[in-house]
Amino acid sequence: MNSELILAIESSCDETAAAVVERGRVIRSNVISSQIDLHTLFGGVVPELASRHHIGNIVPVVDAAMKEAGVGFGDLEAVAVTAGPGLIGALLVGTSFAKTLAWAHGLPLVGVNHIEGHICANFLEHPDLEPPFLCLVVSGGHTHLVLMKDYGEFEIIGRTRDDAAGEAFDKIARAVGLGYPGGPKMDRAAKDGDPARYEFPQAHIDGAPYDFSFSGLKTAALNLMHHAEQVGEEISVPDLAASFQAAVVEALADRAMRAVEEFGQKRLVLAGGVAANSCLRQTLEERCRAAGAELVKPSPVLCTDNAAMIGAAGWYRYIKGQTVGLDLDPSANLKLGDMP
Ligand code: KG4
Ligand code: ZN
Repeated sequence: MNSELILAIESSCDETAAAVVERGRVIRSNVISSQIDLHTLFGGVVPELASRHHIGNIVPVVDAAMKEAGVGFGDLEAVAVTAGPGLIGALLVGTSFAKTLAWAHGLPLVGVNHIEGHICANFLEHPDLEPPFLCLVVSGGHTHLVLMKDYGEFEIIGRTRDDAAGEAFDKIARAVGLGYPGGPKMDRAAKDGDPARYEFPQAHIDGAPYDFSFSGLKTAALNLMHHAEQVGEEISVPDLAASFQAAVVEALADRAMRAVEEFGQKRLVLAGGVAANSCLRQTLEERCRAAGAELVKPSPVLCTDNAAMIGAAGWYRYIKGQTVGLDLDPSANLKLGDMP
């Protein structure tokens, strides 16, 4: 069937998602079932619970995506599924289900790297976007500056040496009592805060101008809280959120804009859950404009985990003939650019 339709499945963390995507560019349906309420009770994602809930959610979520797109399995050209990185139990649910569908309906199977998916989310809303381009990928587990040279071809020019940007937001949000999921809560709290109230250090790594480090920033925020507690001072949560967010955004924008200049880029592509951050979006928008470059970014709903992005990435792997067998083995640590 040359329908150019892919059914994509994503289950690497705490969202069970399925989507039908046409030619890697057009969303026919995009269904996301979030487990936020469940994990909120525990202050973070509990892997075992996430897997169990994927098991319960995957059939209705795939069903809803097929119905919303108005297609049957006979209309599909392939099935794509996130094969890593992520929580292994969670990945196993999605990959097992995708394999079963591929086997039962005689469809080719494509294993997709989750981070590649985040980058390819941009193809869904920017029809003219084609590689090569420079991309800042900021998620809960990864912070990379990447040159996407061609479909499926990546060169990482900078990466975090310790925490990912999203992880730093989540940890500080938890420490100040904002809870899970931390990033969006910090973003919201920061809107009422003064970003100049607390000062945070900026890390610079000798000889690695594009690498990031957020652990010093995180420790500084935790020390500030402990010190305030010891001397009986009250910390302003909005001010702390705004100041911490400003420091994270500065670190990201500094490297990204340096790379835009150094590599002579006319555009910067943004991707990953933290790309939904309002301060990061606005700051990069302004700096790109000043540098004569265009900022390309997904809508917030396509920044965080979804299956449409897996359908976009999966399509470009599929048309290169890069399908996988039914022995596909998901990998918790799959590296960007590596095939599952
Ligand atoms: O890409 P993603 O949905 O999942 C991973 O692949 O990791 O990213 C989730 C991360 C979390 O750390 C979450 O707190 C962060 O993205 N995030 C945000 C915002 N929305 C999500 N961080 C800052 N501001 C936001 N608005
Ligand atoms: Zn993600």
